[in-house]
Amino acid sequence: VFSGNAHTQLAHEVCDYLDITIGKAEVFKFNNDNTFVRILENIRERDVFLVQSISAPVNDHVMELLIMIDAAKRASAGRITAVIPYYAYGRSDKKDQPRVPITARLVANIITVAGADRVLTVDLHAGQIQGFFNIPVDELTAVPMLARSFQERDVSNLVVAATDVGDAKRARDTAHILDAPIAIVEKHRMGNQDRVEAVSLIGDVDGKTALIVDDEIGTGGTVVATADALKEYGAAEIYCSVTHPVLSGDAPQLLEDSVIKEIVVTDTLPIAEEKNTTKTKVLSVAALLGEAIHRIHSGMSVGAMFEK
Ligand code: R5P
Repeated sequence: VFSGNAHTQLAHEVCDYLDITIGKAEVFKFNNDNTFVRILENIRERDVFLVQSISAPVNDHVMELLIMIDAAKRASAGRITAVIPYYAYGRSDKKDQPRVPITARLVANIITVAGADRVLTVDLHAGQIQGFFNIPVDELTAVPMLARSFQERDVSNLVVAATDVGDAKRARDTAHILDAPIAIVEKHRMGNQDRVEAVSLIGDVDGKTALIVDDEIGTGGTVVATADALKEYGAAEIYCSVTHPVLSGDAPQLLEDSVIKEIVVTDTLPIAEEKNTTKTKVLSVAALLGEAIHRIHSGMSVGAMFEK
């Protein structure tokens, strides 16, 4: 298991789970801004896992991953798995306006062309992104882990709220684990801007504890607009559970100032100290990724991890 520079802490924790030492490699930029990678140990015919979350600076981290894949391929690795806890560009997954790219597909293509044999990832923005790859993709989900963290507390009278109609499945999966009903807040995004407006509500939240679920928090606009709408419709307390803490721009302040009581996220992305809020609780996906790597390496079922 080797790590790029995006999230070395997670890669080390994955190795701790696997009880192995992280692979030795140099991954750095020359003065001319060119990225350089050198794998510092023999990996001929080995089963190689390259851990690189596509966190900011997104394009640098994509490039690092591609160059690591190329280095591994040229070092005669037996099999290369790109372990991408957070797959950026996932929101660009369809041509929903004239003359726009499908960047999620483009990134999938270049990862494949670079020489990856498999991909291991967590909660893609849309499941169909798996099909953008012509190599096997194992998509893990943090939904059960996030949901179970709410099982441990007293959230009687709970309702699970989706931030839009497209996210209803995640809400249903969470609600199923927590044995709660769901509500859907219909939202409206202002063109290509990051501003979001919650429009209407499907379901009943009056007097209930609402748990907002989503795949990622970017600017925070979506979950905050959803929380405001839920409050307006009578929700008593509001919690939030999200896999990927992208936390761009003023998101931390927006969340801090919001009506949301607590935000539970995972560590698929590193959270810089200045991006932390007093409301954020972070659960680790290291064991999830570590177990999946163990299963992929030994030919065991990955799906079985989620069967209970
Ligand atoms: C959108 O479809 C996603 O599920 C998230 O709701 C979105 O990515 C969150 O972005 P932001 O925090 O910038 O509103």
